[in-house]
Amino acid sequence: MAVTVLGISGSPHRHGNTETLLDSFLDGARSAGASVEKVVLKDLAYSPCRGCNACHKTGDCIVKDDAISLFDKILAVDCIAIASPIYTMGITAELKGLIDRGQYLWARKFILKTLYFSDDHIRSHKGLFISTAGQNWDHVFDGAFPAITAIFNGTGFEYYDNIIANNMDEYKGIKNHPTALKDAFLKGQKVVAVIEKLNSEGGLKTGNQMKANEA
Ligand SMILES: Cc1cc2nc3c(=O)[nH]c(=O)nc-3n(C[C@H](O)[C@H](O)[C@H](O)COP(=O)(O)O)c2cc1C
Repeated sequence: MAVTVLGISGSPHRHGNTETLLDSFLDGARSAGASVEKVVLKDLAYSPCRGCNACHKTGDCIVKDDAISLFDKILAVDCIAIASPIYTMGITAELKGLIDRGQYLWARKFILKTLYFSDDHIRSHKGLFISTAGQNWDHVFDGAFPAITAIFNGTGFEYYDNIIANNMDEYKGIKNHPTALKDAFLKGQKVVAVIEKLNSEGGLKTGNQMKANEA
């Protein structure tokens, strides 16, 4: 079965620097034989977490909107690439709003203990963060990493790699960056090969994401 890759574009700017970098990664994954899908957050309808804590009792979110079907998709794929430009030293509101909505998965893992990801599952499920920033500062992405780490942890993905390009102001766009698009394409090819190898080493794809009470 083909490796499945989901790209999540968190930029409100269609076909801008960040989505273009994501597209290059997805093209690489597709060229390596993966089944690829891209979701654009600005085209979905979901509201921010209400903080009602109903999920602490039920493990489900009471708000039934596009965030829930997107989390269903995330939980079903082998690889996710989450893309966001740096907005005011962090991720976009669209992406942060989505990540907060995953609180019901946190409740399942840590309060209700009905969701558990085995080490094998995490090892064979790879998450990548894709980002661009205007400034030429090495640390300009630092404010984004904790929330990205949180969504990978919450959904059972190993934080595999970053594909990040700063200094967009100087380059006047990702298309003028000397290496970023090619690097993203190659990383798309590479991660598919890595997952294929892991999956061939002992059926890691089956039965690893389970409810804790089935373990
Ligand atoms: C509201 C807003 C806030 C931004 N804040 C920062 C920032 O704090 N640091 C930075 O380096 N670039 C910042 N930028 C620049 C973007 O990160 C940069 O232009 C990025 O490549 C845009 O990607 P996009 O084309 O996908 O929107 C900001 C841009 C916007 C629109």
